[in-house]
Amino acid sequence: MNTAVNGKLAAARAALQYLEDDIIVGVGTGSTVNLFIDELAARRERIRGAVSSSEASTARMRAAGIEVLELNRTGDLPLYVDGADETDGYRRLIKGGGAALTREKVVAAASRKFVCIVDESKVVDILGRFPLPVEVIPMARSYVARQLVRLGGRPVWRENVTTDNGNQILDVHGLRILDPPTLEAAINGIAGVVTCGLFAHRPADVVLIGGPNTVRRLE
Ligand code: A5P
Repeated sequence: MNTAVNGKLAAARAALQYLEDDIIVGVGTGSTVNLFIDELAARRERIRGAVSSSEASTARMRAAGIEVLELNRTGDLPLYVDGADETDGYRRLIKGGGAALTREKVVAAASRKFVCIVDESKVVDILGRFPLPVEVIPMARSYVARQLVRLGGRPVWRENVTTDNGNQILDVHGLRILDPPTLEAAINGIAGVVTCGLFAHRPADVVLIGGPNTVRRLE
């Protein structure tokens, strides 16, 4: 197993310490979360079920025998576990590499504790090395792209990707994000943007960083 996969697995396993009996757990999307889902499957009798942030995670959980519930019926959740594409030292994140950012942001907002699981390669001093995903409604894509250029970015349309919500993704390159909450609000304020992949207003509460031998915790 390579170092990144080892780190992802270590972080996914470390997240199990936050799992309490009989809860409904929010579950994110991505390769790190897939490892968490595999661990969760072995403990599915302990929980009441899960709220999913994507069709992909829903399919994986259902295949593993985990009951998937709708957020509209569960109310707020005690725990949300998800990966990230980048984290800084303040637990602010870039997410959306898997195009699931909007549902991830909703489930994170509806959860009392957000535990983020990453390997060491995701940790940066300043967010923006990973192109920032922005979900846009299709007819607004070009307009939004022009506004993102005015904010200093280089938006690239992620062609052939349609989100679970029927929308499109612009990946914004070349940003050095010195003030994440302000940029998050500015992008989310552009007409036609559903949401951007900056998680600064609602950062993770805990980031578990899996390394080759240890798991470091930011909290
Ligand atoms: C999904 O849209 C993303 O937000 C993922 O959480 C993120 O891309 C992390 O994915 P990996 O665990 O596959 O690196």
